[in-house]
Amino acid sequence: MSARALEAALHAHAEAVDAWLEAVLPEPRGHSAPLNAAMRYAALGGGKRVRAFLVKAVADLFDVADEPSLATGAALELLHAYSLIHDDLPAMDDAQTRRGKPACHLAYDQATAILAGDALQALAFEILAGPLLEVDDRTSRALTLGLARAAGPAGMCGGQMVDLLADGLDLDLAGIRELQAKKTGALIRFACEAGCLLGRAGDADREALLDYGDKLGLAFQISDDLLDVRGDAAAVGKDVGNDAGKATFVGLLGIAGAEAELKSLHSKASTLLDRFAERATLLRTLFGFVIDRSY
Ligand code: IPE
Ligand code: IPE
Ligand code: MG
Ligand code: MG
Ligand code: MG
Repeated sequence: MSARALEAALHAHAEAVDAWLEAVLPEPRGHSAPLNAAMRYAALGGGKRVRAFLVKAVADLFDVADEPSLATGAALELLHAYSLIHDDLPAMDDAQTRRGKPACHLAYDQATAILAGDALQALAFEILAGPLLEVDDRTSRALTLGLARAAGPAGMCGGQMVDLLADGLDLDLAGIRELQAKKTGALIRFACEAGCLLGRAGDADREALLDYGDKLGLAFQISDDLLDVRGDAAAVGKDVGNDAGKATFVGLLGIAGAEAELKSLHSKASTLLDRFAERATLLRTLFGFVIDRSY
């Protein structure tokens, strides 16, 4: 599969995710209209939807129907959109641009942006726990629990806390690895876990896919940090040069060191997928996209 074909598939899936979310996000009506408008502003349009795509690519290995993969991926994208709104706030990264538009707190205001993030997170769990996701109760519960763990203190939020404190912590490579595994890796690992839950994957397949997810998550943040250093702001669609001084692989190892780490992760991830042979073509090509991307 060519990189171009992968990007076309990613783009097509992003459109399906947007259409699904468009129907589920509340309309901006009534006294709380600005909240709903800010939720739609931050959640619709512009995201690559890599996490949703990953849910589907893993679920497809086990012939899961399209609708539950799409709904689960869409819920995960809402949680991710919430994390981006809060990440951009002045109290965190103080970023101006997100997905090619003014950050949510600039398009609205900080209070509305905070609430929009909170509400997107709540909606993500409502989707996984409620009737919008047509799966059996056990799967629904496992997905809900999995996302809660990935998003919470042992996952994304915990990683964001360390990211903010990292200046004074003098983290070594292992410390940065752990920070990134939490702040970015946890949601990407969960995408793989979700595909496995939907597909009732066996233990050995699940273990390989979670390990692949860990490697992809780490590679994702390293390539994001490379884009922060050398990306084109217009292509990336968000502030670049904003994370100088943060604890990153690029900061510690330099550009060449970070690229070497990406190469090593890619080859390890490839080996993990060998058990799925050509059925893992999408996952293989997705890894290449994540490390070579310009946005
Ligand atoms: C950006 O994630 C935040 C990180 C975890 C590095 P993405 O690069 O997936 O952002 P969108 O969803 O495509 O905008
Ligand atoms: C944050 O990483 C990842 C999140 C958990 C939101 P970054 O701060 O590097 O993400 P960007 O570059 O602003 O998207
Ligand atoms: Mg950040
Ligand atoms: Mg940021
Ligand atoms: Mg970044």
